Amino acid sequence: MSANDTVVVEGPNQPFTAGIEVPGDKSLSHRAIILSAMANGASVVRRAATGRDVGATIELVKALGVEVLGTSFLSPGIDAWTSPTDPLDCGNSGTTMRLMAGALSGSSLTTSLVGDESLMKRPMRRLVDPLQALGAKITLSAADTAPVGVQGAGLATAADIEIPMASAQIRSAFSLAATRADGESTITSPPGFRDHTERWLETMGLGSKESAQTFRIHPGAIPTYEYEIPGDPSSAAFLWAAAAIVDGAHVVTPNVSLNPGRIGFLQVLEAMGATVIGEVTGAILGDPVGNVEVKGSGLRGTTVSGALAAAALDELPLLAIVASYAEGTTTVADAAELRAKESDRIATTVAMVNSLGGGAQATEDGFEVLGLGWLDGGVVHADGDHRIAMAGAVAATASTGPVTISGAGSVGVSWPRFFEALEALWSSR
Ligand code: S3P
Repeated sequence: MSANDTVVVEGPNQPFTAGIEVPGDKSLSHRAIILSAMANGASVVRRAATGRDVGATIELVKALGVEVLGTSFLSPGIDAWTSPTDPLDCGNSGTTMRLMAGALSGSSLTTSLVGDESLMKRPMRRLVDPLQALGAKITLSAADTAPVGVQGAGLATAADIEIPMASAQIRSAFSLAATRADGESTITSPPGFRDHTERWLETMGLGSKESAQTFRIHPGAIPTYEYEIPGDPSSAAFLWAAAAIVDGAHVVTPNVSLNPGRIGFLQVLEAMGATVIGEVTGAILGDPVGNVEVKGSGLRGTTVSGALAAAALDELPLLAIVASYAEGTTTVADAAELRAKESDRIATTVAMVNSLGGGAQATEDGFEVLGLGWLDGGVVHADGDHRIAMAGAVAATASTGPVTISGAGSVGVSWPRFFEALEALWSSR
């Protein structure tokens, strides 16, 4: 499917009961690949996400000299990375760009990170102070966007940093570089971020949680590891939402990441009246994994703000669809970060809901949806944003008419077989 493709989606018009495995988690896949590249020796990354974003991270570590064969990653280690001749292309993936800027800051290389049209417009200023505090030199365009020039610090200087946003990408970038420092470093931010990197580094003996908001990095070499990536809750969320908006529908998604920074959307669904059952069955390097079950019943509007908005951030466009099928108003606040995603997600979310016959309006730091309990259907322009394309398709689960998604190929960024999975969900009894 090419990014410009148009897909017409028609829902099932009846309840469904399904158990569906979703692809490997995107955030954890990026981290496993980057940590494997930093380590000296052979690592394995099983069930990595198959979308273009993680593909960009794989291509990037190959350009640094990592040999990738199927699930195996053989690296010479960060001290022996090859200096790439061309700028490193991160595609549409902000996580690739920001986490790799961090890893490269801890190397001795001088590199440049670029991306597609959307990524070249996203804010990168937030990387500069944390990474420069560790001794790297970071350059940006005049608009504070990519190309991100990184002159690695070699041996980094330990630093204590506080950032104003709950960004896992910036916390991770700093932490990766700080494993290469001459002493202990700390990073502090508001809460709500996914703390995958912190949990993994702590289990590897390379860090400790000082408080809910502060992480201390103990410098040392990243070990090789055999990573088993659990399913992606941000992908599963589309199936949970589809079940939540249909009375009597039921979905089970086994083996997904249940990191507290990833399950905000489940808390919101529960507050709206859906039945949500989560069961932790294990962990990967100290990061919980388990099964999630969602059953649909009459939903009511809710308010999402503060740390909960941060912990549900990637799912907020989808929440706007769920909110349209609820009774009453849903208010999302403290979510200005939505404007800095693959699209301006406040603008694209409001446009999506309104073009489907719903009632949404933008606010400075979020949006409001007036839930009437139904949507008509219509045309959704994905605007190059995978999560808008998928949220629009989920709306078709219960809309009175079909939903046309223009730019449907954008789903390939995170879940290339999304439309097949949605059909499988709807047709399961
Ligand atoms: C991510 C962190 C979040 C999230 C993004 C993935 C990560 O971004 O929205 O999709 O893997 O670290 P921020 O760090 O900007 O909050």
